[in-house]
Amino acid sequence: MKLVVMENHEEMSKHACQLIVSKVQSLSSPVLGLATGSTPERLYEMLIEEYKQKLVSFSHVKTFNLDEYVGLSENDKNSYQYYMNHHLFSEVNFKEGENHIPNGMASQLEQECQRYEKLIKEAGGIDFQILGLGHNGHIGFNEPGTLFSSRTHVVDLERTTREANARFFKSKKEVPTQAITMGIETILESKQIILLVSGEQKATALQRLLNGEVSEDFPASVLKQHQDVTIIADKAALQLQEDEQFAVNSKR
Ligand code: F6R
Repeated sequence: MKLVVMENHEEMSKHACQLIVSKVQSLSSPVLGLATGSTPERLYEMLIEEYKQKLVSFSHVKTFNLDEYVGLSENDKNSYQYYMNHHLFSEVNFKEGENHIPNGMASQLEQECQRYEKLIKEAGGIDFQILGLGHNGHIGFNEPGTLFSSRTHVVDLERTTREANARFFKSKKEVPTQAITMGIETILESKQIILLVSGEQKATALQRLLNGEVSEDFPASVLKQHQDVTIIADKAALQLQEDEQFAVNSKR
């Protein structure tokens, strides 16, 4: 795992944006794995700016999102489909049909998970996966205790995750109790992964990731087993990290 330390959220987003732009420019048919949430919002704004300045095109790019709530339609402003439409898809030149998100409205959720896995496989796998870090160490919606061998599946969301995400809803009661998420093994098959971590509220989780053991109790720890993961973290998120050397150097 490599760690890149950035001054703040803006610089973290800029660095991630540059990595994505060069990936999109260098591959003939790149497949990106995308995350939602607060962390990548500025990154998506920057990608749109790059597109508007004609510095990058997305017409040859396929995308797969990590997850979606069960029971929210794409018109529901809390669905991840809505988020992606508004934060990225409608603003740049992806070809129609090339942006994929699990369908949380599917009547057969298990079949939907299998369909999603098949789509990723048919696309040749994910070249570049963007991840955010949950307070409890989740990646995608893979909550603590999820098997490292998991594929795309339906999850019951933890109380802490529902509380953390309640800020987007009118009340906590409205936060869905289930989601579909890419599994940990699915995520780990991505060729390259970046984990974005910003803000003091992520400091405890990041400290555990950097110093703790690899364990299914802390899903993000599995990233230590992947050969191409870069954590891009800002200083606020690294404030509990005493070993400055670790914060500057790359380590596995
Ligand atoms: C979102 C996702 C989640 C978030 C994580 C951090 O698609 O998969 O794992 O990345 O919950 O969320 P924020 O960025 O809102 O702190």
